[in-house]
Amino acid sequence: MRILMVCLGNICRSPLAEGIFRKQLQLRGLDWEVDSAGTGNWHIGEQPDPRSIQVARLQGLDISNQRARQINGRDLSFFDYIFAMDRSNQRQILELARQPQHRERVYLFLEFARSQEGPDVPDPYWNDRGFTNVYHLLDQASQHVIERILEQESTSSRGAT
Ligand code: 4NP
Repeated sequence: MRILMVCLGNICRSPLAEGIFRKQLQLRGLDWEVDSAGTGNWHIGEQPDPRSIQVARLQGLDISNQRARQINGRDLSFFDYIFAMDRSNQRQILELARQPQHRERVYLFLEFARSQEGPDVPDPYWNDRGFTNVYHLLDQASQHVIERILEQESTSSRGAT
């Protein structure tokens, strides 16, 4: 399974989502691929925002090795699930995704998690105190997302046999 997390800058929300998701996969012994990208190009090559690194570190998670990149057309065919952090990110991704089989891989993260907090993961870039909230939102939602993917994949493989 290949999972891509997408936000605007790929320095605040999606690097956290990538790190949290990967940690939860490890805890469950699932060998899935996880990556993240931004719809914008301002921060290409940069480390995550220091506030994201710090909030992750407080939870025992090191995301400092990640580097920002911009989403591209190849991502749309490579990844099985593409999760947008907010509706604006989702619109941008759908601008790139013209083919129906690519468009149907694009989901809003909190909606897919059936979170009550959705539909958008709030952008904490302009709000220093938003990072802890975002961490917990992503942590909770990631568990539901993994469960839902496992459910969907087992249903579709049963259907195929
Ligand atoms: P992110 O947050 O999309 O969660 O990475 C942002 C990062 C940078 C900017 C906006 C949002 N920016 O305007 O540079």
